[in-house]
Amino acid sequence: MTDEQDVRKAGWVNEAWQAAADKAARIGERIGTGFPHASVNGEYALEDPHWWTAGFWPGMLWQLYEGTGEERFRTLAEGCEERLDQVLHQYERLDHDLGFMWTLTSVASHRLTGSENSRRRALQAANYLAGRFNLSGRFIRAWNPWSEGEDNSGIAIIDCCMNMPLLYWASRESGDPRYRQIAVAHMETVLEHFVRPDGSVYHIVQFDSATGERIRGLGGQGFAAESAWSRGTAWAIYGLALSYHHTGQPRFRDAAKRVAHYFLSQLPEDSVPHWDFRLPEGVAKHRDSSAASCAACGLLLIADLVGEREAGSYRRAAERILESLYRNYGDWDNPKQEGLILHGTDHFPEGRNIDVPLIYGDYFFVEGLARLRGTEAIFWQ
Ligand code: GLY
Repeated sequence: MTDEQDVRKAGWVNEAWQAAADKAARIGERIGTGFPHASVNGEYALEDPHWWTAGFWPGMLWQLYEGTGEERFRTLAEGCEERLDQVLHQYERLDHDLGFMWTLTSVASHRLTGSENSRRRALQAANYLAGRFNLSGRFIRAWNPWSEGEDNSGIAIIDCCMNMPLLYWASRESGDPRYRQIAVAHMETVLEHFVRPDGSVYHIVQFDSATGERIRGLGGQGFAAESAWSRGTAWAIYGLALSYHHTGQPRFRDAAKRVAHYFLSQLPEDSVPHWDFRLPEGVAKHRDSSAASCAACGLLLIADLVGEREAGSYRRAAERILESLYRNYGDWDNPKQEGLILHGTDHFPEGRNIDVPLIYGDYFFVEGLARLRGTEAIFWQ
């Protein structure tokens, strides 16, 4: 890269960072310590704190606090974390998303402020997460029953790769290897049963929860069992790369690269994926900008973990994605839109939150920029 290109790059990254910080400060005045999920008609709908998305707004606030030093971001992030206490003991309302929720709140807070309360909360969350491990199938159970009498004790999902960092953190923090052993066992199951030879992944795999035998793959939030849900692919890229970061086991690195190559090979011109990479003719090809920003963070981590000879292509791919999100998907100066990044797709098969900003898309966009600016504060690591 020439010096001139370097300067241009620094230019857009800093511009995008400032735009994100300004917008977060503005929307924070209304959202406060709420838990935004999808911005419908320009306004973020606020969810109950038990919903899996509860960590992303505070996580973004912690990133912005770290990058700007502005106390207002920290105050709101701490307020969100305190509000999460009301669900920390509600077993039936908590599922495997404990990792998403407490990594971006309590682990983040402990890391940036040294808070002992935050450390205790995160250890408690890690214990609940470890308690979901199925010994026969070597997987973390995804959900509790959604309806009376439903048996989903054998369901595991690709998203859970991103919950493993809470277990790696808990082992490091407590000196007890069991959390990490569980994370490694779960990720070995991901390698065996979720990642396909071409680098695409299943969203859901159903096991027999008594014997541990694999029963079948399911479509979930993707179009079909054998299709390729783009956000699930992004969860796999980043989650596998994180498992390599935490364990040094090359099979996680190799799988992360394989899934990344598949993801990159499927991108349209503007580097932002459709919601599923294998859609038949006639099915709406909405974008999922959240898959793009999450994958970009995973690609930047891969770039940090592979040799210099390979790193450049992962880093450039991530930069292309993030710059496209900033220039083509950002809605920076519109007071009638709270979302930072437009055109996310939450759950197409159920018709939920299609073609709207999503808080996790916004979060990973800000994390991606923080990475490009050289932050040390990546809470999953
Ligand atoms: N973890 C749920 C989703 O990605 O929509």
